[in-house]
Amino acid sequence: MDKIKVIGGAQLNGTIPISGAKNCALKLMCASLLTGDSMYFENSPNTLRDMRSQVELLEYLGCAVKREDDMMAINAGNIKTYTAPYDIVRKMRGSILVLGPLLARFGEAKVSLPGGCAIGTRPVDLHIKGLEELGATITLEEGYIHAKAPAGGLQGAKILFPKVSVGATENLMMAATLANGTTVLANAAREPEITDLGECLIKMGAKIEGLGTDTIRIEGVKSLHGARHSIIPDRIETGTYIIAAGMAGGTVRLKNARIDDLSAVLGHLSQAGIEVEKDGGDIIVRREIERLRGVDIMTEPHPGFPTDLQAQFMAMLCIAEGAGLVTETIFENRFMHVPELSRMGADISVQGNSAIVRGVPTLKGAEVMATDLRASVALVLAGLVADGETTVNRIYHLERGYEDIVGKLSACGANIKRISGE
Ligand code: EPZ
Repeated sequence: MDKIKVIGGAQLNGTIPISGAKNCALKLMCASLLTGDSMYFENSPNTLRDMRSQVELLEYLGCAVKREDDMMAINAGNIKTYTAPYDIVRKMRGSILVLGPLLARFGEAKVSLPGGCAIGTRPVDLHIKGLEELGATITLEEGYIHAKAPAGGLQGAKILFPKVSVGATENLMMAATLANGTTVLANAAREPEITDLGECLIKMGAKIEGLGTDTIRIEGVKSLHGARHSIIPDRIETGTYIIAAGMAGGTVRLKNARIDDLSAVLGHLSQAGIEVEKDGGDIIVRREIERLRGVDIMTEPHPGFPTDLQAQFMAMLCIAEGAGLVTETIFENRFMHVPELSRMGADISVQGNSAIVRGVPTLKGAEVMATDLRASVALVLAGLVADGETTVNRIYHLERGYEDIVGKLSACGANIKRISGE
């Protein structure tokens, strides 16, 4: 298996282009199923492994997908099946998002249950319950969710989510665009990716109000049409490189990045000693002090601190002055990076869903491995500042969510390379 080797100690200086948001692109691709017209996406992170899995699924369903550089065109005018099979869904949970669009447009969908994953059990009960409230009949058969709409189509309803869920909000929002009457999603998720999806749906002819708030109102329409949409920059990739630059020192310009989507993180970064400044459509990052300071964080749904930056922030706390308390409230098992960081000399103790990180003056390079995307990148960040060589195994996970991470970091002076495995 392929590996990444990093020799720590180099400062980062230069420019890193930020890619389009993975967690937006994956959902926009599903939204293409809502129309028989062509959809065109710009700033699409086409080289990511998760994007390739989603293309595989859409092509299996009968979509025509074209990719060129960062453009993606999808036409769902000739759908052949309403079934998303286990072999594709198991590779990536984002594929559950075909359920709402298929059901809304064709009246039927069969999607494999995605199963658990390394960061937790991750049920899809909120997706299922919400679709039932829109009138769907749902049965679970041999590991598949089989959903059928009533003869006259889905029916708008008021849905109150008992828990904030990004995926359930997106699935229900897409399904409701073609339902009869009005749907209100209460206690909806407010992530920027949801707003971007909603804005694309509006371009397709959907009637949606309240994006970015916890109450989204959708008035169903008879059909949607094709549209062109530019995907927002990836805020998690942006946050990851901000933390990398803060840890390594130097000055880095993040090209095409949105500072406003990271408002919950900026205060913590500044407390830690990382200066982040907006410069037109870019962000400039530099470390203000010799050694970063420990800061407490707690993950929460947007606009709180994102769980997808928790592992990277923890890597930073490992070398900060003093201690920081990290509390994870979104996923029950998102501390898999802790034992690996400890192998590099970090001082971390976990109690339930909290971890106290006591900064050490230096980490030591080691052979490490992680079992999810953000944990893996946290190990790369630790490697950037560790003494000696760090080998990160199973980079499969990194390639799910970071376009050309080796190229982007080495262009700024990092001593990092990819090694093809036996
Ligand atoms: C999205 O996952 C992201 N994935 C995740 O990013 C991100 O960590 C997460 O949102 C939270 O921000 C994609 O967008 C593809 P949720 P999602 O539904 O939609 C529970 C990454 O690294 N829940 O908001 O699956 C769930 O178990 C990934 O890029 C239910 O109980 O997350 C979790 O505890 C990892 N029942 C909480 O809600 C449900 O039906 C929030 O999950 C659905 C969710």
